[in-house]
Amino acid sequence: MSAFNTLDDLTPGQRVLVRIDLNSPVEDGVVQDNNRFDRYAETIRELAENDHKVVVMAHQGRPGRDTFVSLEQHADILADHVGKPVNFVDETFGEKATEAIEALDGGEILLLENTRMTDDELPEKSAEEHAESEFVQTLAPLFDAYVNDAYSVAHRAHASTVGFALALPAYAGRVMQAEYDYNTGVAERARNAEGQVTMVVGGNKSKDVIGVVDNLGDVVDNFLIGGLPGQLFRRAQEYPVGYDVEGMDLLDDQYEETKDTLGDILDEKGDQLELPVDFAYKGEDDERAEIALEDIESKDREYFDIGHDTIDAYTPIIRESEAVFVKGAVGVFEDDRFGDGTVELLRAIGETDCLSVVGGGDTARSITKYGLDEDDYDHISIAGGAYLNALTGKELVAAQVLIDAADS
Ligand code: 3PG
Ligand code: MG
Repeated sequence: MSAFNTLDDLTPGQRVLVRIDLNSPVEDGVVQDNNRFDRYAETIRELAENDHKVVVMAHQGRPGRDTFVSLEQHADILADHVGKPVNFVDETFGEKATEAIEALDGGEILLLENTRMTDDELPEKSAEEHAESEFVQTLAPLFDAYVNDAYSVAHRAHASTVGFALALPAYAGRVMQAEYDYNTGVAERARNAEGQVTMVVGGNKSKDVIGVVDNLGDVVDNFLIGGLPGQLFRRAQEYPVGYDVEGMDLLDDQYEETKDTLGDILDEKGDQLELPVDFAYKGEDDERAEIALEDIESKDREYFDIGHDTIDAYTPIIRESEAVFVKGAVGVFEDDRFGDGTVELLRAIGETDCLSVVGGGDTARSITKYGLDEDDYDHISIAGGAYLNALTGKELVAAQVLIDAADS
């Protein structure tokens, strides 16, 4: 029995407001198709087939970032995956949205504009406070049920993730149910593993890696570090890694913010960490080139992947592990020149008879992009932050609200 009320508990033919997570990479203003659309298409199709009037809420980016765009393109991509038209209205709530919602027939689908375009969405508040917002108060009366399927944003207490659960009968969607059950259970399995537990940590957020190493240090035997965290740890050891020219300060800002903690981790858990011994960059003719850590003389270059000596050092550790978790890509795999690290580590994981869980926002996309076989992994999570919260045993606030709703 599930901890949630699920779609199995929902009577067909209702007015359903469903929150999903279509937050996607955006390149030059163009929204990139990814695994999230595939997974959510199943939920949306199931709801439509059950003759519900399906109104979809989702977010994209954050105000101020260049990924903060309208959901208009998402509607078309989602429609392709669902195999049915997905209508779009360029308002999250208000007269226009209400009109579009009321015009729906059973089995029809409508996507509302980016939830983060309303001021009510983002403040981190309690579910009770969010339930009082104009956003929730305006939309909720138009529906019979709220379905939250947005596992990957379940660590955020936003209006669309927690507020509606108090204003309407609340249900977990299929993705929420599957990801919650799997990720919560797997943390337990890792704790009980007898053999080596390894975690590949990449991505571009050094704060994430710090949380992981701090919280999972007792469970995970080896952390194989790549991506931005790999560069930052090497910098904390006083190697001149990265690019220190004004205007290119992603690494510098993150380094300043985290250098004390990085130093502490190196002191306390240094022997659990494997760090890059070489890096890949854009060399002559813009081709992939590599340089050994020891040969780097100054901070005048950007690195986009771990090098092949690092790959050769990491893969044997993977092959000897009983369980391997992945959080984030070790290189900028979106660029074919810099996919080697990500692909070779994933290939080693796929070939090893171990418990394997791949998570971290876009990381799952590399599996499809490089033709690896999804079936070689036990679980591919479409979540980043929420996946980490689950692994480290932190509460997922929006999942908890659904569980409480099912209990009451
Ligand atoms: C994600 O893509 O990780 C989720 O959608 C959460 O997005 P956020 O980190 O901008 O809140
Ligand atoms: Mg994120």
